[in-house]
Amino acid sequence: MAERQEYVTAVKEIRYLSEDTVYVGIECPDIADRAVPGQFVNISCGKFLKRPFGIASVNKDKGIFYIGVKIVGDGTKKISEFEEGSKVEVLGPLGNGFDFTGVDKAILVSGGTGVFPVNFAAEYLKGTDTKFTVVQGFRDSSQIILNDPSYVLTTDKGDRGIKGTCIQGLDSLTPDQIEGSVVYCVGPIIMMKFVGQWAESHGLKCYVSMEQRMACGIGICLCCIVKVKADNKDGYYNKRCCKDGPVFDYEEVIW
Ligand SMILES: Cc1cc2nc3c(=O)[nH]c(=O)nc-3n(C[C@H](O)[C@H](O)[C@H](O)COP(=O)(O)OP(=O)(O)OC[C@H]3O[C@@H](n4cnc5c(N)ncnc54)[C@H](O)[C@@H]3O)c2cc1C
Ligand code: FES
Repeated sequence: MAERQEYVTAVKEIRYLSEDTVYVGIECPDIADRAVPGQFVNISCGKFLKRPFGIASVNKDKGIFYIGVKIVGDGTKKISEFEEGSKVEVLGPLGNGFDFTGVDKAILVSGGTGVFPVNFAAEYLKGTDTKFTVVQGFRDSSQIILNDPSYVLTTDKGDRGIKGTCIQGLDSLTPDQIEGSVVYCVGPIIMMKFVGQWAESHGLKCYVSMEQRMACGIGICLCCIVKVKADNKDGYYNKRCCKDGPVFDYEEVIW
């Protein structure tokens, strides 16, 4: 796995994807070159702590990696105000990322901002022999971003694509898309739990990318704990989402 490093670099591109979500291209040839899908970066935002974001895409030729940022608070608001040339401190690439080794067929499922790491995974798998299907879930049509006509699209409101959640999207897949697949999922915790249950009921392996609140991002502060099953007196032990994850086997997580 790529070693993390700290960089002081600059924003190269920034544009709005929707009313409350910006797409930011950051110059960093090392990260663009070494990051694997499912990994994340910590980005400075003029606040005390850097904020974590999944890597959404890389352009190795230009030496730029991209993150998508939904504005939910002060830090993400500050990032949305970055301009081309703004100085930014970046720590990354962080975390384990998705393992596609030996996977012939994959189903990539995203909910909300999970669309970003799933975008990078789809981009990566296009260059491999692994067949894949993408299922995207959004609240309503105004939230749809980074969509491709080949994807299975769902909206809670039903104003575009299949009405319902990713589960209705997964239920619409053909046996050929399902059989023998490994499922990779990023989204709200409740959605990942249901996607894991769906995978289990179809006899499929499922990996989920957890997005705990983080501080240090490098395994020191222990504020991003994920409880996983263990054969000890407590029945669990703690893993660090930032360092041991963010990708976990669905079956090991205590939901
Ligand atoms: C590994 C990882 C990858 C992530 N990838 C992305 C991404 O690709 N795009 C994206 O837009 N966001 C992503 N996030 C979430 C993002 O880091 C937070 O939204 C951001 O840190 C909030 O900062 P803030 O200062 O704007 O908000 P704050 O003022 O810190 O919080 C505002 C609101 O957001 C909630 N919040 C903050 N952090 C999280 C979190 N980790 N999970 C759920 N709710 C949170 C708070 O509870 C609060 O309600 C990711 C988080 C992790 C841990
Ligand atoms: S954020 Fe500090 S240990 Fe994970």
